[in-house]
Amino acid sequence: MWHDRAVTHTDVGRSVQSAVYRAGVYGRRPVVPVAPGALEAAARRRMTARGWGYIGGGAGAERTMAANVAAFARHPIMPRQMVDVAERSLATTLLGRELPAPLLLAPIGALELAVRGGPAHAEPPVARAARDLGVPVVISSQASTPMEATAAALGDSPRWFQLYWSKDDDVAASFVERAEAAGAEAIVVTLDTHVLGWRPRDLDLGYLPFVRGEGIAQYTSDPAFRRLVASRPAPAGGGERPTPSAVRALLTMRRHGATRADVETFLDVFSRSSLTWADLAWLRERTHLPILVKGVQHPDDARRALDAGADGVVVSNHGGRQVDNAVASLDTLPAVAAAVRAARPDAPVLFDSGVRTGADVFVALALGADAVLLGRPWVYGLALAGQDGVRAVVQHVLAELDLTMALAGVRSVGEIGPEQLAPAAAN
Ligand code: FNR
Repeated sequence: MWHDRAVTHTDVGRSVQSAVYRAGVYGRRPVVPVAPGALEAAARRRMTARGWGYIGGGAGAERTMAANVAAFARHPIMPRQMVDVAERSLATTLLGRELPAPLLLAPIGALELAVRGGPAHAEPPVARAARDLGVPVVISSQASTPMEATAAALGDSPRWFQLYWSKDDDVAASFVERAEAAGAEAIVVTLDTHVLGWRPRDLDLGYLPFVRGEGIAQYTSDPAFRRLVASRPAPAGGGERPTPSAVRALLTMRRHGATRADVETFLDVFSRSSLTWADLAWLRERTHLPILVKGVQHPDDARRALDAGADGVVVSNHGGRQVDNAVASLDTLPAVAAAVRAARPDAPVLFDSGVRTGADVFVALALGADAVLLGRPWVYGLALAGQDGVRAVVQHVLAELDLTMALAGVRSVGEIGPEQLAPAAAN
């Protein structure tokens, strides 16, 4: 099941650990820093100011971004001894598919900002790293590469598609149709970003990737979107000489295969603030794939999502990028998981926002998640070392998860529950 030859899924922790220590004897260090803070700092040094602002930043005073990470410390693990944990497995089953570990790569848009050299160095190496490991990728609506190209790089490795629900029905329907054709096994509808949050770092730089044609490849490659662009009246004016900065902006767009009309059309149709639960029926009719809703924080929203036809939920606050001072995502997980279990015991509950380590994954599973989406850390790995960097980050997280399981006294991810947490923290 474990696809990477260097790692066996029965003992991933010790094999990654001992590979690192043995290489160290010959003076070789891990391809990316293992310590979460060092990983982030190294990625920050590698990225442009704009790239770092967009990827590393959050909404408002970034209280929620910090709270997401800090929340894990309030749910301490209670290790147990003298349990036979010699044989362990991270394997799990999600939506009927066996996976090597309870971890997927979160959808991250405008990924080219993390790398030098453009989109070819963004999604394709991520897809290859995921394929090496057998870990599913959630392909973003805001990717820098059309989903078909990412799907090709994934081979037969699992992928889901994340949908930003366009104001234009035809574009939304076309994305879903293309995702099905590209082999997506689920549609993840992100609910929490129908408008962008207030992001001071980006505002201070006057920078949003999409306005420059970055991160809109799913749109520019889409037939329904192309029809919209074609039906758009030509921009007025034209007689005046463009300013040098306008010319630079146009050249940036062109480098990304986008025209001004593409960008303007994208800005017109991106995401719909009028959506309500009733609209989910429209999507339900258009796809046979499981639908998960991402951005759920309130247990009532989880219940309503299931009532409206969703098959599962992703507990997330978008990594603190949307509502500042919103509750830490982990603190909402137990109540949401309980609501889902009560309504539909087999519906998966995924979790993201703040996962940085294997111990964090353990805690999220203990609080009711079936799997987690890893977000920023794998982007930092990409920034530092491309495909190898993404693979290393995921391996480090999974190695720590395995060792945490061993040392906490559990053999399989299915055994991880509230009883593995210190009593006061379990409820
Ligand atoms: C995101 N996220 C996101 N989510 C989504 O549904 N579609 C998207 O296109 C993006 N794009 C995106 C870009 C960047 C730069 C970041 C950091 C995040 C949110 C993402 O899927 C996930 O919810 C968060 O990254 C989780 O928070 P942490 O763990 O990364 O802090």
